[in-house]
Amino acid sequence: MENVKAIIFDAYGTLFDVNSAAEKCKDKIGDKWKPFANFWRTTQLEYTWLRSLMGRHKDFWQITEDSLDKSMKAFNIDTSMKNELLNLYKILSTYKEVPETLKALKEKKFKLAILSNGTPSLLNELVKSNNLNNLFDDIFSIEEVGVYKPNSKVYDIPIKKYKIEKNEVAFLSANTWDVSGGGNYGYQSIWVNRNDNIFDNLDFKPKLEIKNLSRLLSEL
Ligand code: LAC
Repeated sequence: MENVKAIIFDAYGTLFDVNSAAEKCKDKIGDKWKPFANFWRTTQLEYTWLRSLMGRHKDFWQITEDSLDKSMKAFNIDTSMKNELLNLYKILSTYKEVPETLKALKEKKFKLAILSNGTPSLLNELVKSNNLNNLFDDIFSIEEVGVYKPNSKVYDIPIKKYKIEKNEVAFLSANTWDVSGGGNYGYQSIWVNRNDNIFDNLDFKPKLEIKNLSRLLSEL
């Protein structure tokens, strides 16, 4: 990867483990915790895309709650668990290599930022609860443009602020559609493929595919 001036990370699923809220409740939820967590995540993302298409924006926290309500019904999970799951979603854990990799990149003097669907307060709380406070130059939220990824207006936010070229950004996401969205916009997109998934057919292929963030250190 050449000419990288800023490294921009997706948040949910890339830095923070979206399944960790349900996983922390697995004793209460039982074996279905994983399909339930996947259903919740898929529904949450569908709602972001549908609301953007309908022009009916609601913030990511409201969407997270709306999608949780549907998912709890679909999986017959007692409504008494709702607040616990939501509170855990505010303090999702990072994937294990994330803190040390971010620190090493910071030492190499890269500009580091988050660009996410999350609201500013959700993202700040996630960063704070995982002790990542001083590592990011900026935390960019789609709330600035009122439309969700993969709309190009979102990927435009850091370019406007940093006044750099699109291809001077290394953009990392574990979400295949977000890798395509960033690449379609003009970023050097990197796919963090943690679970040996299959890439999308959206006329775009990532510049690089890595298993986890640690590989970044040798690539940049
Ligand atoms: C985000 C979603 C895509 O953090 O995971 O923007």
